[in-house]
Amino acid sequence: MTTPPDDVTPAAHDPEASPAARPRPAAPSTLAELERRAASRHGRPAYGHDALIACDRLVRVFTTDGVEVQALQGLDLLVAEGELMALVGASGSGKSTLMNILAGLDVPTAGAATVAGRDLLTMDARARLGYRRDVVGFVWQQTARNLLPYLTAQQNVMLPMQLHGGRRRAARTKAAGELLSMLALDHCRDRRPHQLSGGEQQRTAIAVALANTPSVLLADEPTGELDSHTAEQVFTAFRTANEELGTTIVIVTHDQAVAGEVRRTVAIRDGRTSSEVLRRTERDAATGRESLVAREYAMLDRAGRLQLPAEYTHSLGMAHRVLLELESDHIGVWPDRTADGAARGRETGGEGGRESESRDGDEVTEGDS
Ligand SMILES: Nc1ncnc2c1ncn2[C@@H]1O[C@H](COP(=O)(O)OP(=O)(O)O)[C@@H](O)[C@H]1O
Ligand SMILES: [Mg+2]
Repeated sequence: MTTPPDDVTPAAHDPEASPAARPRPAAPSTLAELERRAASRHGRPAYGHDALIACDRLVRVFTTDGVEVQALQGLDLLVAEGELMALVGASGSGKSTLMNILAGLDVPTAGAATVAGRDLLTMDARARLGYRRDVVGFVWQQTARNLLPYLTAQQNVMLPMQLHGGRRRAARTKAAGELLSMLALDHCRDRRPHQLSGGEQQRTAIAVALANTPSVLLADEPTGELDSHTAEQVFTAFRTANEELGTTIVIVTHDQAVAGEVRRTVAIRDGRTSSEVLRRTERDAATGRESLVAREYAMLDRAGRLQLPAEYTHSLGMAHRVLLELESDHIGVWPDRTADGAARGRETGGEGGRESESRDGDEVTEGDS
């Protein structure tokens, strides 16, 4: 890491510049803080200033037996308060790594991450504990990991409230009952997990996660072990929590049905966010009929880098180099028609389909600054 300029103390070398004579700004604690200052000096808001979850060039490297795995490779993600969104991506793309970081269970190697104003890189152990208890709730895929087997559904929901403290037993009982009712689990109140179906267990887990009214609810493949009908009921519970309590919800899922029901689905590829699908209701002007329209967007990072879909680059034989042209309302991207560029395009492009060659080549950089 480079030394932040604000941290340089000339006083030691320069007798004129005593600390008293030259007021020194408080040392910035993190890179994020430095960036916020830089941004405020330029009069524009910092990246993600109005987002509830802001991940900025997040990196997580795991080292096992001397072998490095870059699970997150500069991931950017903003989630607005009150959003219900899905994260999708191939196995091994870094989804769980991201969720563990957001849950406060793991610490990123580099980059910045804030959730509800908490800096996930600089929290000490005590702050981390409070964060996990009060700011985030989580639901895991393994139903058994979410609930204590010897407690009833109601007692499971009351446990985090008890750990939080503050409320009397009667108030906790009432609040837990209301949460279970909201998720249509009245009949499960006095049952233990083994007396509940898989779907009921996951819905109870959602109630447990909501016990201390967290700002954010995280769920890592919560319907992965369920059939599609049951998965639908669990998803309805998430939607209810989002609508009734305003909880911001991020769900990692493989389930197309779930991904298709949220307004925003973000795809992660190789440890980075690669594309987003936004869905909105549109009314046909002629018939007045409403329909759900989905559009896929590519992510443009702050350096201006853009990942082009492999199907597009392959079909036009694009590799290594492309030609850009600025038009009044769009940017044109053309294959490289120079002699060597065209030859490379043939090598790696549509006809041959040598995918590995163009994997790293399908990025466009627009003036790295
Ligand atoms: N604790 C760990 N130690 C070493 N490698 C890990 C660890 N956790 C995850 N990885 C690696 O990081 C990559 C991303 O994993 P993960 O976040 O679990 O992906 P996903 O949830 O999208 O399937 C994988 O290559 C995985 O093997
Ligand atoms: Mg995973």
